[in-house]
Amino acid sequence: MSKSDKTSVSDLTPAAAREELKALAKKMAHHDALYHGDDSPEISDAEYDALKRRNENIEAHFPELVRADSPSKKVGAPPSEKFKKVTHSLPMLSLANAFSDQDVADFLDRVRRFLGLDEGDEVALTAEPKIDGLSASLRYEKGKLKVAATRGDGQVGEDVTRNLLTVPDIPKTLKGNDWPDVLEVRGEVFMRKSDFLTLNKNNQAAGKQVFANPRNAAAGSVRQLDTEITKGRPLSFYAYGWGEVIPNPFETQEGAMAMLKSWGFSINDKLKICNNIKELEELYRDIENARSSLDYDIDGVVLKVNRLDYQGRLGQVSRAPRWAIARKFPAEKATTTLKAIEIQVGRTGALTPVAKLEPVTVGGVTVASASLHNADEIERLGVRIGDTVIIERAGDVIPKVVEVISHQDNSKAFEFPGACPACGSLAVREGEDVVTRCTGGLICPAQRKERLRHFVSRTAFDIEGLGEKQVAAFFDKDLVHSPADIFKLEAANENLDPKIQDWEGWGELSVKNLFEAINERRVISFERFLFALGIRHIGDSNAKLLARTYGTFDNFQTAVEAAGDETGEAYQELLNIDGIGPKVAETLVDFFREDHNRVVVKDLLGEVRVKAAKANKNSTPISGHTIVFTGTMEKMSRQEAKAKAESMGAKVSGSVSVKTDLVVAGPGAGSKLKKASELGVKVIDEDAWIELANS
Ligand code: IVH
Repeated sequence: MSKSDKTSVSDLTPAAAREELKALAKKMAHHDALYHGDDSPEISDAEYDALKRRNENIEAHFPELVRADSPSKKVGAPPSEKFKKVTHSLPMLSLANAFSDQDVADFLDRVRRFLGLDEGDEVALTAEPKIDGLSASLRYEKGKLKVAATRGDGQVGEDVTRNLLTVPDIPKTLKGNDWPDVLEVRGEVFMRKSDFLTLNKNNQAAGKQVFANPRNAAAGSVRQLDTEITKGRPLSFYAYGWGEVIPNPFETQEGAMAMLKSWGFSINDKLKICNNIKELEELYRDIENARSSLDYDIDGVVLKVNRLDYQGRLGQVSRAPRWAIARKFPAEKATTTLKAIEIQVGRTGALTPVAKLEPVTVGGVTVASASLHNADEIERLGVRIGDTVIIERAGDVIPKVVEVISHQDNSKAFEFPGACPACGSLAVREGEDVVTRCTGGLICPAQRKERLRHFVSRTAFDIEGLGEKQVAAFFDKDLVHSPADIFKLEAANENLDPKIQDWEGWGELSVKNLFEAINERRVISFERFLFALGIRHIGDSNAKLLARTYGTFDNFQTAVEAAGDETGEAYQELLNIDGIGPKVAETLVDFFREDHNRVVVKDLLGEVRVKAAKANKNSTPISGHTIVFTGTMEKMSRQEAKAKAESMGAKVSGSVSVKTDLVVAGPGAGSKLKKASELGVKVIDEDAWIELANS
């Protein structure tokens, strides 16, 4: 026994208590791993319990010293146990934001245009508070709750059924008897402000975990491995939508909400129908005024097109529906001191000035740094180091400096560097670009590190247990330089001294889990793979578009390499993809022209297998076909026609070539129609197209 073990807890100094808690956390994590992971404990249960009691005693005396990784937060749950993955039958979407009445008006205009409605046509919308919690999907079969899952990345979430069964608002069995056989209800799990305050008060008194805000408390409770702990956490649930429903009886958003209510779900009582922009604005102000008196945190108002046939036609872009928008409350502001300006190097070499601030609370969150965007912005604000500034934080957007309120006598001007702070290469601004970029490319360690971070991020390779922090640590220790190294880590670890499991903060179990998670990603979808490469302008929607167009990565790479010849057919084909313009085409060609990029890709392909992209889950008469729309469309907007064709697995191209399978020609069609008949491509009119689209 160490000396401090013998000291009575009440005699411990805070410093000694902190040290001992740290040592206990490490020791118990070590024994946990042995016990649960390897079934080879080194100490008896009684000895383990003594450590646990000692830890609890110290924490009760020094609640402010409770560690984030405290063993008291892990009681009863073996650390190796993880949540099972659940693939959502329909993706869980997110929402686009509107920050002003004008943004809402623009949204309505877009909806009308897409649906081909007239400017004066009213489109009814439901409006309801946007709850600040976390979303969940509840699957009922024959009226019984079968699976409750978190959102995860929108496609795959975690199975938290046992935990959500403890939430009183979530029915285990549906009320009534007119519910569909399969009903997936989606909504927000949250903690009421009053419940949150009580929980924190009790926890504080008991020396247990204290949460920063209701959202964190709710999220921590839902993802709690020990259901007994979740049981003691007061959670609430509001239903706001649905996923798979068979058979589907819903006709309007409002009607669906009423049915969900009749089956036993809590629906927000502020939900209302608005028929025009004036009503929307009024409701928004009402909810904004009521905000502080509500017993739950909200961060805006969600607007949804009421007619479900419209919702169906509007579909989605990327990961957000075209039929809904979140009208966010204005950003919250705070005043603080700008202590320094640091330059961050992004994965494409962009140098971003970041303001380091005297920490300040904005809307319940402590902010210590804020974006200054670029050199022009620093000049526009006239900001100097040492100044008093106003910062702003809107929802989940990165905080930014918006105004200087006073220059201090000793404040210093900031000089934007002409060289990259990470590698010393020249930093330049090209043409009209407001961004200053490091020209070091892959020799720049900061760019390489950022690319790796991007590579493992959630929408890219998404390797569990390998987040930004871990990848940066492996990079700094010279273990991982390029993406392929991640897949060679397990082999490399064999010859390491000390091995990763012996590093501070790691252990046998976490290393075993990490290698398992890495190996799980040795087979990856084309679009994730392409997105993960971090090519400029290739976000997840362009990656998806390219995957759908080329089918296999091999086809794609061959085509892009051939597109280096701008007069050739491959280049034309790339440009023909609706949504890919010359700028994107050029970055792709440039990327694959660079030897070092080709080496990175080749090494990676030696480690992982890229799956071919499927055109569409279900095949349709136009899956894999290339369609060109030309002339005026009278019954469906051009945008809707294009979205529909794509959702049916077709490619929409802007020009007619030998590769075109079908031309849809409306009145006024000209040269494209002529070319189609020259090439013998099939041509149909709008009515025939609508019939095809509905088939
Ligand atoms: S509808 C397809 N309604 O906001 C529409 N979302 O940014 C999906 N949220 O992940 C969401 N209250 O967690 C909707 N009344 C509400 C909401 C709401 C909160 C959250 C939800 C979602 C996020 C989207």
